[in-house]
Amino acid sequence: MDRRRFIRVAGGGVIMATGLAAAGCSPAMPPQAIAAWQGPGQEADLRRWVLGHAILAPHSHNLQSWLVDLSVPDQIVLRVDPTRLLPETDPTSRQIMMSHGTFLELLDLAARERGHRAEITLFPEGAFGPDEIDTRPVALIKLVADAGVAKDPLFAQILLRHTNRNAYDLARPVPAQAWQSMADAVKPNPLRFGFVDAGSAGALQQHRAIAAEAWRIELVTPRTIMESYKVLRVGPDEIAKHRDGISLMDPMVVWMDRFGLFDRSRAPGPEDIATTSQIEDFGKKLASTPGFLWMVTDGNDRVTQVNAGRAYARVQLAATAQGVAMQPLQQALQEYPEQAGLHADIRRLLDAQAPAQTVQMWARVGFAEPVDPAPRRGLDAQIVRS
Ligand SMILES: Cc1cc2nc3c(=O)[nH]c(=O)nc-3n(C[C@H](O)[C@H](O)[C@H](O)COP(=O)(O)O)c2cc1C
Repeated sequence: MDRRRFIRVAGGGVIMATGLAAAGCSPAMPPQAIAAWQGPGQEADLRRWVLGHAILAPHSHNLQSWLVDLSVPDQIVLRVDPTRLLPETDPTSRQIMMSHGTFLELLDLAARERGHRAEITLFPEGAFGPDEIDTRPVALIKLVADAGVAKDPLFAQILLRHTNRNAYDLARPVPAQAWQSMADAVKPNPLRFGFVDAGSAGALQQHRAIAAEAWRIELVTPRTIMESYKVLRVGPDEIAKHRDGISLMDPMVVWMDRFGLFDRSRAPGPEDIATTSQIEDFGKKLASTPGFLWMVTDGNDRVTQVNAGRAYARVQLAATAQGVAMQPLQQALQEYPEQAGLHADIRRLLDAQAPAQTVQMWARVGFAEPVDPAPRRGLDAQIVRS
């Protein structure tokens, strides 16, 4: 979901959001929504300290579907919040599982930093089936003091990592040593990491074409675009209230919304400027992108999905250490019927052959202007008392 230029005005018209940002009228991100990015500081409780880092993990649509139960001392139980799923664009909850993997990876890095081994048992009451998830735990975690545990330098990147949806600098390719450090970061996880850059211009064009078409399909499929609309948070008040979802701070959008002129109640049509301007905008971003990366797993069971999320978190942290920006491109990887053709195209391009081989992550990579941190609800909102 892009964040600009798609305002349908109540009554049917559409207004483009431009100008005010350039005039310096941008509203500021509410400090309480991004307070979690200060880190847990001197928090004395080790579990809360590691969780204060874990909640900064990337999550699809920033839904933060992590629920933690701390009722048994020295133990953390992680479950999925069933109210925070994406049934239209993520019908099997594969991305939700990956987003629990990113959380566990940051938790692990934080535990190591404090001289503890995170003993993570995935699906202690059995794994979810392939189509649905339920209330059984994703993980049972015990933090065990261990003088032999190694700190990981990726820990230092947790507070600095952000998904970057800006245009990238096409003239600035990703250096070989940055690709290498991303590939090295994956190594603990058994999956195939690949990338393409300016060295293969033809392949770059194929990546851009598939990503652009997959994005168009998501925009013109009413139920999938509405799923994003439902988690749009427009302006500082909504962002401060929800602290999740997709933040829209564009001053014109905020202004229109304040006056009741931004209609989020129905999907724009394929020819509406609300749709066409987003397609054009995203096309420019793809054209500015000097590289793409991907991760392919041999299977697609729940453990594999969680571990793919762990690997993605490590790759993005490694990129952050190199000053490299990244934005996942999940549209063509998604399992809803309208994407089937693009899904097959990306599998073919990335040589995912056997039926169970799965492209878990695909992302654009490059150098870009920095972005604001995305909101977080804060740890207390995610602790359940059983
Ligand atoms: C499994 C997964 C899929 C994601 N897919 C997309 C995507 O298709 N497009 C996108 O812009 N961001 C995507 N993201 C990034 C999230 O939107 C992002 O993590 C979230 O908004 C929080 O922002 P942050 O990463 O800056 O903390 C994805 C993240 C994860 C973990």
